[in-house]
Amino acid sequence: MSATSVIGLQWGDEAKGKVVDILTGKSDIVVRYQGGANAGHTVVADGKKYKLSLIPSGVFRHNVQNVIASGVVIDPESLLNEINTLRNQDVAIDTNLLISDRAHLIFPWHKEKDRLLNSLAGRESIGTTMRGIGPCYSDKYGRSLAVRVGDMFRPNAKERLREIAKANADYLAKADPDKNYEELTSESFLTTYFDYAAQLKPFVADTTTYLLDAAEAGKKLLLEGAQGALLDVDHGTFPYVTSSNSSGVGVSSGSGVPACYITKVVGVLKAYATRVGGGPFPTEQDNETGQKIRDRGAEYGTVTKRPRRCGWFDAVAARYAARLSGVGALAVMLLDVLSTFDELNICIAYEINGQKTINFPSHADDLRAVKPIYETHRGWQGDLTGVRSFNNLPRNAQYYLNRISEIIARPIGLVSVGPDREQTININL
Ligand code: GDP
Ligand code: IMO
Ligand code: MG
Repeated sequence: MSATSVIGLQWGDEAKGKVVDILTGKSDIVVRYQGGANAGHTVVADGKKYKLSLIPSGVFRHNVQNVIASGVVIDPESLLNEINTLRNQDVAIDTNLLISDRAHLIFPWHKEKDRLLNSLAGRESIGTTMRGIGPCYSDKYGRSLAVRVGDMFRPNAKERLREIAKANADYLAKADPDKNYEELTSESFLTTYFDYAAQLKPFVADTTTYLLDAAEAGKKLLLEGAQGALLDVDHGTFPYVTSSNSSGVGVSSGSGVPACYITKVVGVLKAYATRVGGGPFPTEQDNETGQKIRDRGAEYGTVTKRPRRCGWFDAVAARYAARLSGVGALAVMLLDVLSTFDELNICIAYEINGQKTINFPSHADDLRAVKPIYETHRGWQGDLTGVRSFNNLPRNAQYYLNRISEIIARPIGLVSVGPDREQTININL
């Protein structure tokens, strides 16, 4: 009876995929439970690079069941592309994937609404991934126009989808009269989506019951978070967030696995900070330093290829995210990227309108007003990618890591010094 969750503690792309791939070695079942194809998780194994959006990062290990649980929003076309790409890479996907019949489906109108809403915001845009995530979750909570995976196999499915498609086509035609949305009301549209459903059918199951049975039978579950705690819709930098609970608090609602089974929470952090899209980012370095981090860390989005905004490690934000997510141990990733800096800054407190605080503000405008208070550390020069033990890291790197651990008040269980599985210092995870 044990479940481990892996949660990003920044604004996403903390290298959760790598941590999940490593921990899968000790797991029976790996579960994606929120978000959708906005996620881009990278696994590098035996020199080969794999990119995953909806499929759990456990898929590269044998004898592990992978589950896309009820809290995920699924773009069927995107999921089928991912399944086919993995088949072509000889990954045994057909026997080890389950998809929740309760998960909600993303349709073309969700992506269109994402595009229209993003440009209408009248303020700094959220800069979404345009994958239809927000509009699909809106329909889920609105209930009337939502379609779940299991709905596609009910007797009245075609009539219902036809009505929903028509309602959306009418709405979009008014919202954007320059574009033609007639295709959404065609029979070929319905045929396409029912064909997608038929292709996915062999994977579809009641994953909630499956996971409850597994938890009760003592199977080892690994719950893979997408995005990061600071993008959580309730506790992140609203409205510059995603539309799901991407911090540790979302694990149970998204997976259906009760909190009492979650015995370990691993918080994943980059050794610096990045953000893609809009929203305040107190330690951002929109300068040569940021560019150097971007170059060394290849900081370009996995999903949208956008250059990621880069900055110094923000311990105020990380401490908040770790507390919120109930983190027991930290995985500090991409440490190798920080080699060759003479000095490194860690933000240890915020000054907001003349007031010093170590608490993370609840309003985006207050976060925008932050003057970061930095502690400066000496850097190190050598290449870290071959280092395999903590004691063999340069002393300044050890000091830097220990300081992060001290401020966040959590031990470091893993340090990553390169993208490959092997480029890892496993201390105690
Ligand atoms: P995720 O969304 O949290 O899974 O992270 P992404 O896959 O979007 O981004 C992390 C990137 O960093 C990927 O390209 C990884 O291959 C890469 N990566 C992971 N760990 C390390 C590391 O320790 N050093 C370096 N240089 N790259 C890493
Ligand atoms: P992984 O799982 C980084 C960001 C988008 C945008 C905001 C809202 O790879 O860490 P959305 O499309 O979700 O409505 O966009 O959230 N975002 C991510 N940033 N990594 C991700 O996923 C992200 N998923 C969404 O850039 O700012
Ligand atoms: Mg990513």
